[in-house]
This record gives sequence, C-alpha cells and structure tokens, in this order.
Amino acid sequence: MDDLIRSHKEEYGQDPDIIAQAPGRVNLIGEHTDYNEGFVLPMAIDYYVRVAVSRRKDQHLRFYSVDFNDRKRTSLSNLRFKKEDRWANYLKGVISILQTRGYISGGLSFSVAGNIPVGVGLSSSAALEVATAYAVQTLLGIDISGPELARIAQEAENSFVGVQCGIMDQFVSRMAKEGSAMFIDTRSMEYRHIPISLGNIKILITNSNVPRSLVESEYNQRRAECERCVSLLSSRKPGRALRDYSPEDLRDSMGLIPETTRKRCLHVVEENERVRDAESILRRNDIVSFGKLMNRSHESLRDQYEVSCPELDWLVKRAWETDGVYGSRMTGAGFGGCTVTLIEEKAIPKYEIRLEAYERIFSFKPEIFLCHPADGAQIIFTN
Ligand code: GLA
Repeated sequence: MDDLIRSHKEEYGQDPDIIAQAPGRVNLIGEHTDYNEGFVLPMAIDYYVRVAVSRRKDQHLRFYSVDFNDRKRTSLSNLRFKKEDRWANYLKGVISILQTRGYISGGLSFSVAGNIPVGVGLSSSAALEVATAYAVQTLLGIDISGPELARIAQEAENSFVGVQCGIMDQFVSRMAKEGSAMFIDTRSMEYRHIPISLGNIKILITNSNVPRSLVESEYNQRRAECERCVSLLSSRKPGRALRDYSPEDLRDSMGLIPETTRKRCLHVVEENERVRDAESILRRNDIVSFGKLMNRSHESLRDQYEVSCPELDWLVKRAWETDGVYGSRMTGAGFGGCTVTLIEEKAIPKYEIRLEAYERIFSFKPEIFLCHPADGAQIIFTN
C-alpha cells in the first residue's frame, strides 16, 4: 500500500485522500446462471485491485496505472468509452454512472495497482470497477448500499464498456466475507455467506493461459440463446427467465426449441439445481459430495453448454485422475481462463507432475496458485 501512496504522490503531487481495495473471485459452482436470474456460489480470492483517489480543483479526470506505467486523461464533460483507453474505461464507466445519478461534481485523480492476473477469468475488471466505486463513494460520502454499488459497477460494464456480464462478479467483489463462499440468488439479490472449512484441502486455481479471443462473442450468443428459449417456453408456461423453468420443462420441449439451444438451456436449469444442492452440502462440510457436483458442472459446461475448450478439459481430466482431488471444473465464462480444483495439500506435487505435458501439447504453460476465501471491498487508507 505504501508503494501506491508514494506512486500517487509522485504522479499528482499530493497524497491520496482514500484507497479502496476489491478482490477478484473464483466461482465454485453456478456457471452461466446469473444472467438467467439463477443461483451462483462464488468466493472472493485473496488477490486484489487497489484504487487510490484524490480530489482535484478542476473538472479533469486523471488515471495512472502503476502496473502498466500508463496514463489516461479526460474530463467530466467528456466521459465516453474509447477503445484506446483500455483499462481506464472501467474507471470511466463507474464515474459516468455515478455522474448520471448526480453524485459527482468535481475532478478526481486516480492511481491503480493490483495483483489479480488480468484477462484470465478471475474478474480483475469487476474488482477494478468495485474498488473505484467504493473509493469514490466513501470519499464523497455517497449513501448507497453494497448491493446497489455492485449494480452500479455492473451497469458500468454493461452500458459503458459494452460487455453484457451478469451481476455475480461485482456482487461478490463487494459483499464477500473472509473464510466464506457466497450463495447469491441473482433474481431477488438475497445472499448468504457460507463458511468454508477445508482443513488440509486447498482451493487451487490453474490458469490455462489460453488466448481468449472467442469469449465475448460466444458469451453474448449464449445469452441471446437463453432469451430466445425463454420466449419459446413461455408460450406453454409463463416465465420471464430460465430461472422459472425446470429440467422437465426443457426435456418436454423437444420439437419446440432448436436442439442445440434446448441442450444448452438444459445446462442452465440443471446447474441451478446443483447450486441449491451445493449450498446445503457445503454447510454440512461434505467436501466429497461438493466435489462431485463441481465435476458434474464441468461435464455439463463441456457437453451441453459448450463453453469449455480442449485445454480446460485436459486440465480438469488431469485433476480428476489425481488421488487427493475432490473436484475440478472450469470456472468463469470459459473459452480459456482458469480451472478451480479442491485438492489435498499433499497431492499438489502429483498434480503438478501431471501438468508437465501441457506445454508440449498446447504450446503454452499453465500456472497454478492457491487462493483463500477473502473479504469483499475495503477502505485500506484514509488521509
Ligand atoms: C463472467 C460474467 C459473469 C458470469 C460468468 C459465467 O464471469 O462476468 O456475470 O455470467 O461469466 O458464469
């Protein structure tokens, strides 16, 4: 944190007024359910983005990324998405939404630093949005609840950056509690913290390092398919999202819905059931059953929803073959990104040995790292 204070001071000639940090996330189960008003069960991880901010006397906005050694600038009257502003668009998006709601009247200077791997499905962008929103909220004394702040961050991503993500990532980044995963009902926005007590079992993330060129277009296509399916299903049974339908409804709809779409939507409704089961199983601390649900979730994402890829399937298979692994699945949107594995600490070296062939087969190296369930956004410095 001292580094960020120093960098901010060097850049702007004044100390930050406030620093907020927000975590990345790993989703344990409940994939591609949030934009269908379903259930998710993610946790925040102990990797963070930190945003330092200070007030300015003019109407300008300045952005400095310590990690990229990059600077962007604009003003309050000129806030629009610009492709070349890359990372700064996430901050600009949040400020723009807060400005539309009448909360912002003066210029601000920002510095950003973090350690969440970027672009690998661990929600570094959601963390950046949440840290920005939380820092500004606290600095200006804006009265908004945690869930509302998550919505603002999501809206920044949807309407400013133009990515049609659901609410999961921003919500968990703001609301998580150390030592717990979160069950979130993305329709009612009810949530429950579920303490995780794993003993010598670890939560291991494996980054496939696959270049993720397909993710955005395929993600939007899946969303559209889910919506189309609902409009067809609702001719038989009222409902406004896949959340309102059961696996039986999907099974009974052969002929009504194109086969690929039907199969994909079956994933969503079955995944919702898995998340409900997963919550009670995790409360009983039955890691064996929880791991099995993770494995079923992966198979369904691979075979029904079709958002996995050969590299992720390969990594998951190596995990499944390793003694001491309870469960393993792809996590996040898919088409690359990471897997999450519940593994006994002593089995990790055996898993690593199995990964040795990856580079030879796919020509890039996977990376593994342990993570722990972390707190949501925090203010870590005030001046
Ligand atoms: C991305 C989105 C989330 C969610 C997942 C898939 O992480 O940002 O809202 O839809 O994909 O479960």
